[in-house]
Amino acid sequence: MKKVVVLTGAGISAESGIKTFRDAGGLWEGHDVMEVASPEGWRKNPHLVLDFYNQRRKQLKEVLPNKAHLDIQKLEEDLEVIIITQNVDDLHERAGSKNIIHLHGELLKVRSIKNSTLISVTTEDIFWGDTASDGAQLRPHIVWFGEEVPMIEKAIENIIDADFVLIIGTSMQVYPAAGLIHYLKNGCIVYAIDPNLEIHQINVKNEFHLIKDTAVNGVAKAIRMIKSTL
Ligand code: APR
Repeated sequence: MKKVVVLTGAGISAESGIKTFRDAGGLWEGHDVMEVASPEGWRKNPHLVLDFYNQRRKQLKEVLPNKAHLDIQKLEEDLEVIIITQNVDDLHERAGSKNIIHLHGELLKVRSIKNSTLISVTTEDIFWGDTASDGAQLRPHIVWFGEEVPMIEKAIENIIDADFVLIIGTSMQVYPAAGLIHYLKNGCIVYAIDPNLEIHQINVKNEFHLIKDTAVNGVAKAIRMIKSTL
């Protein structure tokens, strides 16, 4: 069975109503990302950070996967599908996709600030004073700027033998995620779906198709193109 790796960013969730990071003039829901997504921001004002992710977590209860998420799940009928997402929402999970690698963490998980393996699932708010089983303060299980990306090795292992790669709704500005396209095998065909992406932003030696459209329309187009090669 042929293998497709789907690399998604904030743009795939835009049509579900979740704001992207760089479309709003570099503000994430009105905040400078370094205020709410960095260890410095956490040290400076943990209450702001906890509240920010409480708001993001609450928002998940009001949004649904869109047709792009659902079409990707349906692709599992014909291909081996591995999703490598930079998103921290759970829309791929709620669309029914099975193989999902979250490079930047997950909104519905929290962990001990002392022991990053002490992770628990929550849909509720967390506050200063809420502790993990080791008695240490709970923090969002999110990869902040400047922190390690523990899942990157697993992502590389999964992309090196892909027959197709779909890049959906990411500005390809954040590493190491953006560097994954340099691990593609010869013969792997790349489709990039994004209304604003320019061809020079994806620097691959592989066969490359840029679909300048939204995720909902573009994923359907890319899937038709992939199926026509099977
Ligand atoms: N369909 C497809 N793509 C879209 C849509 C849409 N409806 N709307 C916007 N986009 C595109 C934008 O053109 C942009 O290229 O989605 C991309 C979103 O880019 P970013 O906002 O930079 O988001 P992303 O690439 O996921 O950011 C990567 O940066 O802030 C950190 O950790 C955070 O995971 C995030 C990482």
